[in-house]
Amino acid sequence: MQAASMTVPGRVNLIGEHTDYNGGMVLPAALSVALTVNLLPRSDRRISVSARGYSGSAERSLDEPAQGHWSDPSVGALREAVALGLLQDGADIVIRSDIPAGSGLSSSAALIVAILKAARLQAGADIGDLDIALAARRVENDYIGLPCGIMDQVAVAVAQPGQAIALDTATLDYELVELPRSHAMVVLHSGHSRRLSDGRYRLRKEECDAAGQAFATDALCLLDPVAIENAPDINPILRRRARHCSTEHRRVLAARDALAANDLATFGALMNASHASMRDDFEVSIPQIDALVADAVECGALGARLTGGGFGGCIVACVEDTVREQWLERVMELHPKARLIDYVGGEPKG
Ligand code: GLA
Repeated sequence: MQAASMTVPGRVNLIGEHTDYNGGMVLPAALSVALTVNLLPRSDRRISVSARGYSGSAERSLDEPAQGHWSDPSVGALREAVALGLLQDGADIVIRSDIPAGSGLSSSAALIVAILKAARLQAGADIGDLDIALAARRVENDYIGLPCGIMDQVAVAVAQPGQAIALDTATLDYELVELPRSHAMVVLHSGHSRRLSDGRYRLRKEECDAAGQAFATDALCLLDPVAIENAPDINPILRRRARHCSTEHRRVLAARDALAANDLATFGALMNASHASMRDDFEVSIPQIDALVADAVECGALGARLTGGGFGGCIVACVEDTVREQWLERVMELHPKARLIDYVGGEPKG
């Protein structure tokens, strides 16, 4: 039997953070940094996985529960592949990735989706990309135990590098969105990594569930911002969480329209407002990222924000393409720990 090979991109979320488990919209884009998986089926219920950039290699049984180990996403993905009938048993897996882990660029979703797509290829099955994304989310939610939304899995399963996707996470309806050539959405790593599994993501999910109960809704994003301010007797933390979800959802809709109208000034202002909301209302930023975002704007970006789950990782900044290099130089002078990861939009890479 031949190995199946599959490459899946990382993603940057342009706007719409923590809305994907609160019934709202998101606007991620697929990057050119990517992850490739080689998968060779085997005839026992075991998996061997080796990965450059992780801690070498591991051998696990498909019947083991998650262990908080870097190989958990691979084990969980194979379990799903078996459950979907894409594989009979285990597999040998080799991973090559240039998506930095712990940076808010969906390295975990890319890995799980790549394994599922490689298994689909191997089986010649015709299960669709959205079903692959849903299976990948089950790996995170049910096997690994991370209560994430569906944004990352759909973004990396559906979008091609450089493409943005406006996704309604309640219905999974989406449209591909064209990015401007005049401006680049630059992804910078702050130099501060984070792990979603460290409990703070889960805490935000629990706070949103509590806010949902307080406001009697399962879609905080669809609440009217005025109703949130006027509701009596709401815990101030829960009111702030609800305010972020509701205003962020509206910012995504406005950002999608601004892109369609080629109104990058408005798009940039929405990014800035999104960052302020993540910092003040959702409280998922850190001072080093606030400083990087502020300097990115100070150096000439139309807007900038923390991207991904938060507490570290990357920012994304909207920069006029013709001044991108100079802008980057100035930002890096102020933040020597930061590094360029990728960009989408702008003139095609040569
Ligand atoms: C992580 C999760 C996503 C989403 C973002 C925040 O990337 O995996 O589901 O909630 O954080 O927008």
